[in-house]
Amino acid sequence: MSKNVLILMGSPRKKGNTSILCDEFARGAVEAGHSVEKIDVISRKIAGCLGCNGCQRNGGTCVQKDDMQEIYQKINEADVVVLASPVYYYTWTSQLKAVIDRTYSLLATMRNKTFYLISTCASPDESWCKVMLDSFRTYLGCYETVTEGGYVFGFNAGAPGDVKNTEAMQKAYEMGKRIM
Ligand SMILES: Cc1cc2nc3c(=O)[nH]c(=O)nc-3n(C[C@H](O)[C@H](O)[C@H](O)COP(=O)(O)O)c2cc1C
Repeated sequence: MSKNVLILMGSPRKKGNTSILCDEFARGAVEAGHSVEKIDVISRKIAGCLGCNGCQRNGGTCVQKDDMQEIYQKINEADVVVLASPVYYYTWTSQLKAVIDRTYSLLATMRNKTFYLISTCASPDESWCKVMLDSFRTYLGCYETVTEGGYVFGFNAGAPGDVKNTEAMQKAYEMGKRIM
């Protein structure tokens, strides 16, 4: 069955390593018959969560009116959401973390979605990415019926384009192709 795939690309480098892996994932997904939209989060104005708890009192509407409104709608429509971020100090970029925090308003409503993680880093192997992977998994654990589809890390990717030389390219493509 064809799925609606939303990629939230959280690197400030629109043509960097994370974006390149997202495009490989998207290529596989499109070949498998899914529809894919990729949003460069850096192109949107998204403020951090205020922690006002307004959304917890009013049935899940964030009181802040900024570009997150568009992303809320797209998350609602998506079957599959990809959180894509380079590793910055062991975890998300601040741009993607703002999006993640703002999904606090979806705590009671987000249902039946599959999430993927696409990430890149300068480090040589996954032992350096535990915080990122834990953060991804514990985040998913906050939502009922939201499940993990898979993840891929591109290692040794300090400069934009470095990821092209890694096996992560094939992994990302195959992960997109295997979406169910
Ligand atoms: C502020 C900052 C913090 C970073 N922190 C880490 C880190 O903790 N571990 C790591 O392996 N690489 C780290 N890096 C390297 C990036 O993760 C790496 O260059 C990544 O491929 C960038 O992805 P992009 O090209 O999609 O922007 C950091 C880079 C920056 C700019």
